[in-house]
This record gives sequence, structure tokens and C-alpha cells, in this order.
Amino acid sequence: MHEPIITVLGGDGIGPEIMAATRQIIQAAQQVTQVNYHFVPMAFGGCSIDQFGEPLTDALLAQVKRSDAVLLAAVGGPKWDHYDVRPEAGLLGLRAAMQVYANLRPTKITAAAVKRSPLKAEIAQNTNFMIVRELTSGIYFGKPRHYAATQAVDTMAYARNEISRIITYAFQLAQQRDRHVTVVDKANVLATSKLWRDVAEEIHPQYPEITLDFEYVDAAAMKIVKSPQQFDVIVTSNLFGDILSDEAAAITGSIGTIPSESISENGPNLYEPIHGSAPDIAGQNIADPIGMINSAVLMLQHTFNDQATANVIERAMVAVLQQDQPVDLGGQLSTTAFTQRICTQIQQNS
Ligand code: NAI
Ligand code: MG
Repeated sequence: MHEPIITVLGGDGIGPEIMAATRQIIQAAQQVTQVNYHFVPMAFGGCSIDQFGEPLTDALLAQVKRSDAVLLAAVGGPKWDHYDVRPEAGLLGLRAAMQVYANLRPTKITAAAVKRSPLKAEIAQNTNFMIVRELTSGIYFGKPRHYAATQAVDTMAYARNEISRIITYAFQLAQQRDRHVTVVDKANVLATSKLWRDVAEEIHPQYPEITLDFEYVDAAAMKIVKSPQQFDVIVTSNLFGDILSDEAAAITGSIGTIPSESISENGPNLYEPIHGSAPDIAGQNIADPIGMINSAVLMLQHTFNDQATANVIERAMVAVLQQDQPVDLGGQLSTTAFTQRICTQIQQNS
């Protein structure tokens, strides 16, 4: 096999800080496991607008095609808010071009996180669910779409095959978990949601060991904070998944720790933390890199099947977190201090 190629997109705000941290940690770990990952950093988002006038260049798309995986931090910031093209448009363009149709966002409350959760311990504990968010269709992509001072239009549209591939993915994922799938929709109002229900009912008989239920998105939003243990796999549309996954992240205590993985049918997968570019804390060396590091761990496990390097990183991070934590988790560690401790821990373990 050729040397694995990872396109790294640091992006904007805290993005470059947490990406530098993650690369340093992978580099320390690969010295232990003797694997060689080849990183190709590229400009993406606001920094690409500054350099090339557009958030997503053809050169980047060509590079992505040559990659085995794409690791992305975050893009955006107030600087570009009033530009004609925004960094976030690059993000949608990248997801569409890569056809990463399923975005997986785990919400798992560990014993340590129970203390940080804004929920009562008895509600928070044992929470462990996965949101499977449809990522390349729905209202973020639907046409017509236009803006005028008197009326603005967005369109929510789903084709049957777009729904069936993500529902199938959710059933297959549930087979490796607690065998329960919840489709979250708004079928009492939306036509697209009715099609989601019909398709889920149609596919369900192929997975008789999986239990299937349906929740309206408003009720699901409530249940995520009232009884999060009831969920195993939540599968939902682009918009609902975006909103519910931030809510789910909040119950773990910090948005800074949660990774995501976006699956493509035949190209490289995309790995990114779920938070944004956090312009409010950019440049202060207090960003939490855990969500970015965990995204890299998912990449090592799922794209490269490299459990050894993933383990080295996870073990070292757990050991460091037992001593002190990044600032958003209530600890004292700056981004660079946390990173340095993990690298030192990796070297000591080896
Ligand atoms: P955000 O996730 O960047 O920040 C929300 C809050 O969480 C802020 O107080 C921030 O300081 C904190 N936070 C986020 N990540 C953190 C980390 N790793 N460590 C410590 N604290 C952290 O969301 P916000 O403020 O709504 O958006 C900021 C910019 O990011 C906007 O331009 C938005 O469009 C963009 N964005 C980009 C995303 C991406 O690149 N995938 C996703 C979400 C937002
Ligand atoms: Mg979001």
C-alpha cells in the first residue's frame, strides 16, 4: 500500500491551533507504531477566501480526490460574515463534492463527564447514542433557494434513494450497537418526513433484530434532555441532525470534545469535530483539541484500520486527563500544554 495520504484543513479561528495539536500527537504516536502518515495541509474556508478569493478551490478538490482521508478543523468567523461567499459555503461544497452522505456524531457520557453534564447525574449517566445525520441533501441544498427583501425561500427535498441509503446505514450501525433505531422527523407536517417514515418501514423487515420507532423532532429535543438513555441510533435529516447534535453535545458538558465522521460511498471519509471555529477564543491558546484528536482517532480506526496508533493516542490522553484538563473542562491546561503532555506521555509509554 502507498503511504496513507491525509489532507489536513486547519481552517479558521481555533482551527489551526487544534489541528497543529492533533498533528503533533499523531506524529508522536506514529513514531511508536512505525506507521507513516503523509499530511497535505491546504487552505480552506476563510483563509482560502483571503488567499484565493474562494473558500473551496479546484486545487483542494483535486487534492481531496488523491487522499485516503480528510481531516478538517473548522471554518468561519465574523471577518467573512458580510462577504459575498462565506467560508461555510465551502463546507457545504466540500461535503457535497465528497458525497459524504452520513454524518456520525456520538454522544457518550462517561463517568467523568457525568459530573460536567448540566443534567442531573441520574439522567445523564449511561447516555450512549449516535446521531446519524443526513449530510448532503435536505433544506441545506434544496432548490429553489433565493433571498429578496420581500421574501426568501429555502426548499426541503429528499429523493427516495437519499433516504434509503442513510436509513440502511443506521440499521447496519444499530446491529453493532444496542439494536434500536429512532427516526426523528416532523411527519405530522412535512411531506419529506412522510417519505422518511415510509422508507424506514419498508427497509425494517430486512433487519428484524432491530427495534424501530419514530419521534417528532420537537419531542425528540425534549427527550434528549429528559431521558437520553432511551436512544441508541437516531437517524435524521440534515437540518434536524444539525440542531439535535449540538443539543446532544451540550449534555456531555462541552462541545469541544466531540468528534464526527462523515461517510462517503466510494471516496475518502471526512473527519471533523462538531464545534465551529470559536472566534471568541481564537488565538488565546485555550481551545480544547479533544474533539479534533478524537476525530483523528476515528480516522485511524475506520479509514486506516490502525487500532495500534489509535490506542497509543487514546491511552495517553486518558492518562493526562486524569491529572488535569483543558480550560473548557474546568482545568488549567492551555492547548499547547495539553498537547505537550500527551506527546510526553506517548513517549513515556513506549
Ligand atoms: P462554535 O462551536 O464555534 O462556538 C460555540 C461556543 O463553544 C463558543 O463559546 C466557543 O468558544 C465554544 N467552543 C467551541 N469549540 C470549542 C473548543 N474546541 N474548545 C473550547 N471552547 C469551544 O459555534 P459558533 O460560535 O456558533 O460559530 C463560530 C463560527 O464557526 C461561525 O462562523 C460558524 O458559522 C462557524 N461554524 C463552523 C463549523 C464548521 O466548520 N464545521 C460548525 C459550526 C459553526
Ligand atoms: Mg451545527
